[in-house]
Amino acid sequence: MTPDGSTSIPGPRRGGDGLADIVAAGGLHNYQLRLHVEYGPVVQFPLPGAETAVSVADPVLLEATAKIDERPDKLFEFLAPLQESGNLQTIPAHEHTPWRRVLLSVLGGRRSHEAHFGQFVTLARGLADRWADAASHGPIAVQQDLSALSLRMMCEYALGSGLAAPEQADRVVSAFEDVLTEQLARLYQVDMPGTDEERGARARQALAYLRSVVDDVLAAHRADGAQHNASDLIAALAVAGQSPARIRDTVLMTMMAAHHTTGVAVSWTLYLLAQHPDTAERVADELTRVLGDRAAPGYADLKKLTYLTMVLKESMRLYPPGPYGAREATEDLRIGEYAVPAGTTLFYPIWAVHLNPEYWPSPEVFRPERFTAAESAGRPRLAYIPFGVGPRSCEGASLAMVEAELILAVLLRRFRFELTADHAVVPIERFVLWAADDIWMTLTPRR
Ligand code: HEM
Repeated sequence: MTPDGSTSIPGPRRGGDGLADIVAAGGLHNYQLRLHVEYGPVVQFPLPGAETAVSVADPVLLEATAKIDERPDKLFEFLAPLQESGNLQTIPAHEHTPWRRVLLSVLGGRRSHEAHFGQFVTLARGLADRWADAASHGPIAVQQDLSALSLRMMCEYALGSGLAAPEQADRVVSAFEDVLTEQLARLYQVDMPGTDEERGARARQALAYLRSVVDDVLAAHRADGAQHNASDLIAALAVAGQSPARIRDTVLMTMMAAHHTTGVAVSWTLYLLAQHPDTAERVADELTRVLGDRAAPGYADLKKLTYLTMVLKESMRLYPPGPYGAREATEDLRIGEYAVPAGTTLFYPIWAVHLNPEYWPSPEVFRPERFTAAESAGRPRLAYIPFGVGPRSCEGASLAMVEAELILAVLLRRFRFELTADHAVVPIERFVLWAADDIWMTLTPRR
């Protein structure tokens, strides 16, 4: 019991900053899973950069945190060097709220999804063609290619016809990869070829190039009196009076947020379907029924692909691309029987929430039927949070679903996927829930 009559929060009480335990568990996502199994739905644990960290894996208890509009600075400071106008992950609520409204008006809007859909189809079919050629030469590392595809889609989305030629899109994609690879290598202390200085210089050059491309699109938007918007995202931010630096930051941040997440969502879905061939055949039947002899869905077809959507949701439950989120308590909170003081770092352990056996019976079992309307109706709303919680949740959620469903429809219509027998698939955290040495698959064309 604490002096105010609340119970003290359970958790490991060993000394130190907790880093050794996190590393030994194989990352924070795994560590949180273990803590919740051992100590229950609310745990307290030491964490470098946070005096006290509290993780909440119960969807009903999570409601007490759902309106918090602040992230802990320290945990996200690794992203600060990529931003000119303040770290978008941690800007204060009064700056974040109007920015979020603009983002949602574009990213969450059907008009924008439809406008970019044709381009997305071309890119998804392009990958399917390349895989058809490559498949006869052996297994394919699907995660790598799918992440590249989602980055390319986001690049087209964010910069649109502002790109002078397809080669410029290739250059943007590769510059972005340079920046991100360097950033992640530093964060996760991964050994990379070259000296620190060489890699740093390369990343700085790539970042400057990316910023100049956004500036060009913005300048073109202003020059033609906004008659022909090259990018609806950049145009909306400009019209809302966001500064050029904030617009550059936003484009970079959306590319970063959209890149690996959508790619890994699709790759984990293919991974699970390869282990559940009956489910894969059911998806293929649905695609035949809805698409007839077409190779790709139209935008309006997506809502008819109800089984595919359930499969994608169930895959993101078992392998949430973003395995956790974080907030800073802005006031004293009561979480169940526990008192949580203002200033506490709070975690949304998304993976542990999705595997909570109280709301997900036999949580390790892949069963898309969990997402029928009937089964979903009985579940607390925060039992399923692949896109996070509340005012800092993912603005790209609906766009991500459109992209992922389209890519899956194109690929599953065209191929059967099998896992290669001699390759272990190990989930690790690399900003997203990644497979350590990719997911290698053998593809067979469907007739
Ligand atoms: C399957 C794909 C995706 C998943 C699973 C995902 C998941 C997430 C998660 C868990 C967060 C943190 C939310 C929180 O703290 O509560 C987030 C933030 C964010 N995501 Fe996504 N995301 C995906 C795709 C995208 C796409 C396609 C975009 C943009 C086009 C995007 C843009 C963002 C942005 C801008 C944020 C920062 C939110 C803020 O601070 O206001 N995401 N995403």
